[in-house]
Amino acid sequence: MRILLASSEVHPYSKSGGLADMVGALAKYLARAGHHVGVVTPLYRDIRERFPGIKPLDWDLHLPLGNNFIQAKVWTREFEDRLHFYFIDQPEFFQRAHLYEEKGVGYPDNAERFIFFSKCVANFARYLPWKPELVHVHDWQTGFVPLLILHQRLHDGWSDAPRSCLTIHNLAYQGVFPKAHYSATNLPPSYLHPEGSEFFGYMSCLKTGINYADMLTTVSPRYAREITTEEFGCALDGVLRRRQSNLAGILNGVDYDEWKTEGNPYLKHPYSLAGFNGKLANKMDLQKELDLPVNPDLPLFGTVSRLADQKGMDIELGALEEMLSAEMQFVLLGSGSAEFEKGFRKLALRHPKKVAVKIGFDQGLSHRIEAACDFFLMPSKFEPCGLNQMYSLRYGTIPIVRRTGGLDDSVTDISDDSEHADGIKFNEISVRALAKGIRKALVLFENKPVLAHYIRNAMQKDFSWERTAREYEKFYHKFL
Ligand code: ADP
Ligand code: GLC
Repeated sequence: MRILLASSEVHPYSKSGGLADMVGALAKYLARAGHHVGVVTPLYRDIRERFPGIKPLDWDLHLPLGNNFIQAKVWTREFEDRLHFYFIDQPEFFQRAHLYEEKGVGYPDNAERFIFFSKCVANFARYLPWKPELVHVHDWQTGFVPLLILHQRLHDGWSDAPRSCLTIHNLAYQGVFPKAHYSATNLPPSYLHPEGSEFFGYMSCLKTGINYADMLTTVSPRYAREITTEEFGCALDGVLRRRQSNLAGILNGVDYDEWKTEGNPYLKHPYSLAGFNGKLANKMDLQKELDLPVNPDLPLFGTVSRLADQKGMDIELGALEEMLSAEMQFVLLGSGSAEFEKGFRKLALRHPKKVAVKIGFDQGLSHRIEAACDFFLMPSKFEPCGLNQMYSLRYGTIPIVRRTGGLDDSVTDISDDSEHADGIKFNEISVRALAKGIRKALVLFENKPVLAHYIRNAMQKDFSWERTAREYEKFYHKFL
């Protein structure tokens, strides 16, 4: 198959969260399975410096955006003929300190930035010499691509236009803007109605994608069911129910080339099930690095996360407050809402011997935390898939998760299946329920044979991308 992917972030070039990991891995594993794959993504600040192998492509973009014309250059990176990256170089839009926002406030021209990006994607889809037969876009930033393609198929002589697929990574981020921004699309107003791009008097990029893409996916089977309900549907559940027959929930994979406990450049001490001592050495190193008392016998809990309401950080703060009288330690790496950053900093100040908090984004430290901890906390209110709990499992770090979305699909609690248990799940969004989960972990930590059983199950669980890529292939074939 010839597949063009498009995303506003792709690992290893740019990343704010799991979207980047997912698209980077999907591209790599589809190409490995023999498909011809292209990925269109913005050229953000520093990418060229960090990846000197990127080369200019003889392709100049000159596209309308409302009343203006915007120029962009394109850079490319190629792997073995079958995997191409196309970076859209539009400095005013993309050479900025962050991807989407600064100090918690979205850039005021985000609609124009990503409508322009979506037009670049449609332009590539139409004119690439290898003629993609499928364009697979991700999240609201590329939500207009399916409509731009459809419109050109119907009204602009593109009769062999490719099919389109939209993956929803998080229904809570919809790219909703005042209707005035619709003019940037240069599409006729006839699409701006409630069955099209309109959302309660506004323009919605994600809803546009949901209405006009040929195929829809989301990133776990349970989340695919949840988003068709009022509770999780973020006011799009009706639209999603209408399109349910074209919607699949496909669990993300883990790129085990990167998330591994042996041969991992971020981990000083390799380890495996057969040689587990390295994990303890990593734990002691991390305790030292983060100025905590070095003691391998203390249960170490960790979190690596965007500090957003979605992630249940309020109940995590409450539950830690309640539980920190116990003999335990906790480390956090995260950034996001000022309120949660402050909350965790204060917690560390009050419990300097038990809590270490790093505010920021640090790839290496995220691996070291996953490897060092005994337990990983992920009390999300909703979680489309979640990758950290799957990374934890591979690292022999028992996840404590709320029973929702992809967390429920990827972690096995003793009440689900005692033979295969590899984590601790709780139901209620409450401090009490998470504190109970932490208490269960403390009991498990003291029961070494049972803990070893959990760790064995966890480390042997397989979320390899080969399986995920095969599921995407099967789904694409249904519509091509
Ligand atoms: P989401 O995409 O909703 O943020 P996921 O669990 O799917 O959640 O993916 C989060 C990804 O971002 C993981 O790869 C995780 O390691 C990474 N990540 C999150 N916060 C940080 C951080 N502060 N530093 C480094 N990596 C982070
Ligand atoms: C989103 C979701 C997360 C998912 C990731 C990758 O950021 O919040 O649950 O794992 O996308 O699909």
